[in-house]
Amino acid sequence: MSSDTPPLRLLVPDVEELPPDPREERLAALYALPAHTHVRVNMVASVDGGAWGDDGRSGSVNDAADWRVFRVLRALADVVLVGAGTARTESYTALERPRGLEHHSARPLELALVTRSGRVPARTLDGPRLPWVVTGTAGAATASAAVGEDRLVVVPEVGGAIDLEAGVVALAARGLGRVLCEGGPHLLGSMLEAGLVDELCVTTTPRLVGAGPGRIVGGPADEPRPARLARLLAAPSGTLLASWDLRHRAEAPVPTVP
Ligand SMILES: NC(=O)c1ccc[n+]([C@@H]2O[C@H](COP(=O)([O-])OP(=O)(O)OC[C@H]3O[C@@H](n4cnc5c(N)ncnc54)[C@H](OP(=O)(O)O)[C@@H]3O)[C@@H](O)[C@H]2O)c1
Repeated sequence: MSSDTPPLRLLVPDVEELPPDPREERLAALYALPAHTHVRVNMVASVDGGAWGDDGRSGSVNDAADWRVFRVLRALADVVLVGAGTARTESYTALERPRGLEHHSARPLELALVTRSGRVPARTLDGPRLPWVVTGTAGAATASAAVGEDRLVVVPEVGGAIDLEAGVVALAARGLGRVLCEGGPHLLGSMLEAGLVDELCVTTTPRLVGAGPGRIVGGPADEPRPARLARLLAAPSGTLLASWDLRHRAEAPVPTVP
């Protein structure tokens, strides 16, 4: 753990100090996953809603507090699911459990890519394990040439959209039921539209990036829907780390402005 790892203060459900802890036992308990299939998404945004900074990458909007929770979420998941666009932009390679947090899971951390084209970013093929590839019929042959049949999850494709629910079910059937989706915005848009997200973790970092960058959700507009605040942490820097429960059914419909 680096010396600039910040302390955190848990505001919801109860106020609690979370000083730096190399093993992150308390944070891991707070973010513990259920035994059944669960899809958690983790995204970061600037105060003005930007999902990336002027270098086109999310690294220019995240910070040490975000990194602290990001590591814990990776420590707890079975598989990190990302869109091929994010894997390309953010130079994903085969994943390892975050150093020092290996004790939170007995198994290796898998990477799964979502791609319609089947084009697997070359860097993801480096390292100890090939990625899983979730694709439709149009991308199957291309993806298979890169990763082979064993790592391929081919799902139905309707009207150019691949069936992501079938993808999540297929990953769970392979023992990868605790899914951590790290974006990007277009994948998140599709996952939300398909009703697949159980929990949305959004870090807001104390900076503004202007109107250029996109938001954490891409694609067509969707119906407003409720979300319930499940956790809220704050860092001395002003960074806020919220977790939103999307399975919660609100009593009242979301108010709309006429
Ligand atoms: N702020 C954050 O937390 C955060 C997180 C992640 C990424 N980012 C940023 O977001 C930007 C990338 O945005 P993006 O929206 O292009 O990322 P993305 O959703 O990861 O990538 C889009 C590509 O992923 C594949 N894909 C995504 N959803 C799909 C679906 N439903 N079905 C089939 N294929 C799907 C497609 O690949 P093919 O073209 O191969 O078919 C598509 O072209 C980068 O600047 C990155 O740094 C920010």
